[in-house]
Amino acid sequence: MNENKRPETMQRITTPALAEAFIAEQLEALRKQIGGNKVLLALSGGVDSSVVAALLIKAVGSQLTCVHVNHGLLRKGEPEQVIKVFREELGANLIYVDAVDRFLDKLAGVADPEKKRKIIGKEFIDVFAEEARKLDGIRFLAQGTIYPDILESGPVKSHHNVGGLPEDLNFELVEPVKFLYKDEVRVVGKALGLPDNMVYRQPFPGPGLGVRCVGAITRDRLEAVRESDAILREEFALAGLEGKVWQYFTIVPDFKSTGITDGLRTYDWPVVIRAVNTVDAVTAEVAELPFSLVQKIVKRITAEVKGVNRVLWDVTPKPSGTIEWE
Ligand code: XMP
Repeated sequence: MNENKRPETMQRITTPALAEAFIAEQLEALRKQIGGNKVLLALSGGVDSSVVAALLIKAVGSQLTCVHVNHGLLRKGEPEQVIKVFREELGANLIYVDAVDRFLDKLAGVADPEKKRKIIGKEFIDVFAEEARKLDGIRFLAQGTIYPDILESGPVKSHHNVGGLPEDLNFELVEPVKFLYKDEVRVVGKALGLPDNMVYRQPFPGPGLGVRCVGAITRDRLEAVRESDAILREEFALAGLEGKVWQYFTIVPDFKSTGITDGLRTYDWPVVIRAVNTVDAVTAEVAELPFSLVQKIVKRITAEVKGVNRVLWDVTPKPSGTIEWE
């Protein structure tokens, strides 16, 4: 039997009852595989790693150690939510690593998108490996691999930036959701009691806001990306569009234009908004939105985000534009 092939008899998990059955089965399998040993997990706060963490907390409790690396390119409120949900509510052993300066220092002055991705991916492995080496007696490494990752058919897969761990860290893998599709992972996450905004999150690239702060990343422009993204997400949620538009985010390019604020001339950045619908991310359509919502978002971003005096809406389908700008 090919251990990376989803069993043909496996039913599609579409209901809470099917999720409960999957969870019960996995808890037993995890306890059997792990025994009394220790497990390590890189917990990004994305739905896949969050579901794996919640399963492992139930299965083996304190034998699990989660490492959450804050590389400074996460969305507003994300590191706080990971700490709140996993450490405070679920009682996980969670190591929070503030690696913001380390990442941003390495990225300073680097404008090439692929170089930026490589630096972020390598630095992530280095930080995680350093944390892993500080821990004694870890035998297993848990991962939020899902079935599309194995099939390697999706375009997202080719973007996955995380390489393997160094050879001295040869853990055995624990991959409890490796036969699940994304929608099934969400049903399981919901049944595990994870918050909706974690379970129904839109896709978020590994290099995070780093590829939305176009060109060489600077801290002030990165903050403009983070703040404008938070406003966009808030307004979409208020308009009932969360989970209805496939992906929506902001980009801050590295050029400025003139503007006027309170009668004074400004020379500031624009914020670009991208909101798309797609089935598989190979092609994408621009989401059609009420103009009153667009106007409200423009008003808030120009009033609230420091260093920004203009908002542009990207109305390009994919192709010709990719979804991300880098
Ligand atoms: P593009 O920009 O290629 O994006 O049209 C298609 C989908 O992939 C996501 N994406 C990434 N995901 N690491 C990731 O994990 C990356 O480097 C990366 N680049 C793009 C993008 O957000 C979209 O959902």
